[in-house]
Amino acid sequence: MKALLVYDSQFGNTEKIARAIGDALNIGGETILLRAAEASPAAIAGYDLLVVGSPTQRFHATEIVAGLLKGLSLKDVKAAAFDTRFDMDEVDSRMLRMAVKVAGENAYAAPRIAAELEKAGATLVMPPEGFIVEETEGPLRAGELERAAAWAGQILASI
Ligand SMILES: Cc1cc2nc3c(=O)[nH]c(=O)nc-3n(C[C@H](O)[C@H](O)[C@H](O)COP(=O)(O)O)c2cc1C
Repeated sequence: MKALLVYDSQFGNTEKIARAIGDALNIGGETILLRAAEASPAAIAGYDLLVVGSPTQRFHATEIVAGLLKGLSLKDVKAAAFDTRFDMDEVDSRMLRMAVKVAGENAYAAPRIAAELEKAGATLVMPPEGFIVEETEGPLRAGELERAAAWAGQILASI
């Protein structure tokens, strides 16, 4: 299985998750990790599995990830999306918690990425997943790297 994992990361946390997922996917074959800034629609073509990850920023994926997903053609490609995000139960701002509640599925990067992947014709093999950072610049919550590896294992099991 040829798998490509494209990710963006401002402070390095999403990159750590991406590496954990990439390592776990490698068990199933060849996995290439690519920073979104270095990716192009042509570079994304030709894989059996495409995993895309981004930090959640202002309820969205980063511009670079969102831009990359526009106009892709992913017919016959299996796909999955993840993000890093705050645990809203632990966020002090009542306003932010409220806004997230109102935004529902659209409050985080991963569901938005997943929607774009589906729009491009890909088949989602796992529901979008979020991994928790404790502060804006990290660290990741304890256990998230292991959870990411387990999530990747579920992807492998489903394809
Ligand atoms: C400008 C900015 C906006 C953010 N907005 C959100 C947000 O809407 N929801 C959320 O859960 N986390 C938000 N965060 C926290 C990021 O998700 C967190 O910084 C990210 O997971 C860290 O990943 P990285 O180290 O790969 O950049 C924001 C962070 C920044 C810098």
